[in-house]
Parts: sequence; structure tokens; C-alpha cells
Amino acid sequence: MRPGRAGGRGDVRLYDTIDSTNDEARRLSEGGEIGPLWVRALGQTKGRGRRGRSWLGEPGNLFTTGLFTLTCGPAEAANLSFVAALAVAEAIDCFVPPHEVSLKWPNDVLIDGRKTSGILLESWQGPHGFHLAIGIGVNVRTSPDGIDQPITCVSDHLRTGQSPVSAEILFEGLQARFHDWFDLWSQQGFAPIAKAWLARASGLGQPMIVRLPHETLEGRFHGLAAGGALQLEQADGTIVDVTAGDVFFG
Ligand code: BTN
Repeated sequence: MRPGRAGGRGDVRLYDTIDSTNDEARRLSEGGEIGPLWVRALGQTKGRGRRGRSWLGEPGNLFTTGLFTLTCGPAEAANLSFVAALAVAEAIDCFVPPHEVSLKWPNDVLIDGRKTSGILLESWQGPHGFHLAIGIGVNVRTSPDGIDQPITCVSDHLRTGQSPVSAEILFEGLQARFHDWFDLWSQQGFAPIAKAWLARASGLGQPMIVRLPHETLEGRFHGLAAGGALQLEQADGTIVDVTAGDVFFG
């Protein structure tokens, strides 16, 4: 399987403050850019999160979007949110004590159980093929208010003796790790990605609530389905695959 090429690490376009790196990736694609390309901004004025939420653009934090043109369709491309989450987690690992970083379905990265990074995938069909923007926000220096779950930033968890971390240094690690995982995904598909993701997933086997737009489900976090859906084991033992929703443990 060769759903796309990361083609090295890709060029980087660095902006001062812009509306949203996802919007800029889309504009670049409409201008003929096919990637792989990384858009990075020092601040955002209209950052978007999942499910229509906003994502605050505090300077000092990391705001970046990878732009890719893929030969696979949307279902397979969705695997790349897990690739991105693994890359973010490993980039943060370098700065914080061991075992502090975990992953929460679908694609949050937590330090000490609190959200420090969110990922927003957006895709569209263009004249050159199927395009994917992988937007990644990491709280590096500050933990902005405005999300409905405990939040933190990398700088609050630095391991002893670690010098201050910047968005730029974190981005370099993230970009390198992303392309390694991307290449593995291109060659071997989702299975090794799912395995690595589950190895650091928070709440596996634990009771959970999944909030969907029109209903709330309860059960246990059983695992990941082949395409990345969350497998929820209900009280009667049946497994339900959840493709979108907000997850709460405990
Ligand atoms: C989430 O809700 O958890 C996802 C947040 C994604 C935020 C990032 S910041 C860079 C990129 N540009 C955006 O407008 N959003 C994403």
C-alpha cells in the first residue's frame, strides 16, 4: 500500500500571526500546492478545534498544519490523526519525565492526564487529488482557558535540568517523528500505528462515557477498530464502534 508520500520532511512556511494554519494550508492547496508542506504560525486569530470549537492562539504555543495529497480516500486518511498523535507524544517525551504522556481517543495528547495538544483533520478534493490538512496545536508555554477538560502545557512538566522548550524545538521533533510514522503507515498500513497508539492510550479497559451529538453511550474502552473507530463494550457485552464523539473516563 502506498497511500501517499511524505517525501522527506516537507518544506516549512513560517508565518507571524495568521487566521488559522488549516485555512492557510487550504489556500495554498487552492493555489496549486500539493505538499508535503508544513504551515507554522507564531499565533492564530481564528484557530479551530474539533466539533466547531475555537482553539486559542496564544503566542509561545505551537500551531501547525501538515498539507498532503494522498492516493487513498477519506477513511484511510483518517488514520493519520493517530500518526500525528503519536508524533506529538514522542516529541513531548523528550522534555518531560518518562511515562507522563498519554493519548486519548480520538487524537488528544495528555501530560499527566491533562490535555496539552489537539489535532484537527480537514480534507477536500482538488484538481490535483485528495488533499488532507492535519492541524496540530500544542500548548508549549501556556495553557489557554476555554476548553471543557483539564488542560496543561509542556513547560509545566519539564524534567529536572531540562532547559526551557520553545514551539520551534517542539515542532522540529514533531515533524521528524511524524514523517517516520507516516512512512511506516504507508508501508504497513494502520496495524502498527494502532498498536503503538494503544500502547500509550489512556483508559483502556476502563469505564467511559461517549458523548455523541444526540445521545450519550456508556461502557468500557475495549480498543480500536481497524479504521480507528473507538470500540465501546456495553454492559451486555456487545461492542459498538464509535467514529466521532467526546470521551470521558471515570
Ligand atoms: C481539538 O479540538 O482538540 C483540535 C485543535 C486543533 C488546533 C490546531 S492549531 C493549528 C491548526 N489550525 C487550526 O485552526 N486548528 C489546528
